[in-house]
Amino acid sequence: MTTTPDTRPENRVLIFDTTLRDGEQSPGATMTHAEKLEIADLLDEMSVDIIEAGFPIASEGDFKAVSEIAKQSRNATICGLARANYKDIDRCWEAVKHARSPRIHTFIGTSPLHRAIPNLTQDEMAQRIHDTVTHARNLCDNVQWSPMDATRTEWDYLARVVEIAIKAGATTINIPDTVGYTAPVESADLIRRLIAEVPGADEIIFATHCHNDLGMATANSLAAVEGGARQIECTINGLGERAGNTALEEVVMALKVRHDIMPWDTGVDTRKIMNISRRVATVSGFPVQFNKAIVGKNAFAHESGIHQDGMLKNAETFEIMRPEDVGLAGTSLPLGKHSGRAALRSKLKALGFEMADNQLNDTFVRFKDLADRKKEVYDDDLIALVRQNEAVS
Ligand code: KIV
Ligand code: ZN
Repeated sequence: MTTTPDTRPENRVLIFDTTLRDGEQSPGATMTHAEKLEIADLLDEMSVDIIEAGFPIASEGDFKAVSEIAKQSRNATICGLARANYKDIDRCWEAVKHARSPRIHTFIGTSPLHRAIPNLTQDEMAQRIHDTVTHARNLCDNVQWSPMDATRTEWDYLARVVEIAIKAGATTINIPDTVGYTAPVESADLIRRLIAEVPGADEIIFATHCHNDLGMATANSLAAVEGGARQIECTINGLGERAGNTALEEVVMALKVRHDIMPWDTGVDTRKIMNISRRVATVSGFPVQFNKAIVGKNAFAHESGIHQDGMLKNAETFEIMRPEDVGLAGTSLPLGKHSGRAALRSKLKALGFEMADNQLNDTFVRFKDLADRKKEVYDDDLIALVRQNEAVS
């Protein structure tokens, strides 16, 4: 089998979404078959490069989901996960082979803690990696290999097994920070050093796969790109085991908004972000926290008087990206006890009430009184206030 040469420009970063595999591994985030197909379709539509659709050997349901996603895929590469044994890899291939562009992703834990579980010596594990990657590559010309817990693996051993996997035919080497232990400087250095020192490293793509245990998954992923990684593994809303994985919406928007200092492009249509975020929240049963970057309810909302006044004059005063770019209709200026006259006037105008200053002042006093008693003042509340004002004047 031949490998298709990668003709993407140097500054292109591939987005590998694992919402349906690592994301679904979150306790309680199980999705139905139909929901998985729907999410895969939305990911494909937003031009994610690779979709990790599941772990085919894990269950009949996972196998069926990965096979169907492979069949329905239009543009994205469809990937399945397999442990380092032939049975897993064969099962994975049976599921992903239907895709226009299939990928097998095989992995084994390489750190001392993880080597102790199958009780393999370093040499025995190295042989296993050689054999399983070779086997996968005989089935599929697109093979990803991951040394699980790479960031806690001894440097010499990591470099050795990465070289073995490359020689055995891996086309992507993923460096997982499985327990969210690394930090940005280290994340960049590790990839940089692997590319510089491992023979054959310049011929394959390095990927970064970060978990968020210390809240650094996005920073670590971007740092890895700085170090030379050209694939980011992530999930919608940062769904994933424990504190989750790198959030797709965060890395994609960070690369877009700060392109001046991080000049790498993704192919993602960012205007589809909000819709898929909401669907993933609904089908996984994991609501998005209000202050979550990019997709939280408050990410483009401003309540305080100073902020609302600034936003009404120039949106750039308090927003570094346009809500429309992530698929929102616009900024929201919810009215509450911190809001000022400018926002009230603007809202009333939008509701069809133009008022003189003295009338506005009266309404403003009543509004503040109501806002002290209520978290948010809605359109209907305002209409009632104006009517009350009209009745007494
Ligand atoms: O976090 C991890 O190490 C993984 C691997 C299976 C890639 O999810
Ligand atoms: Zn993971």
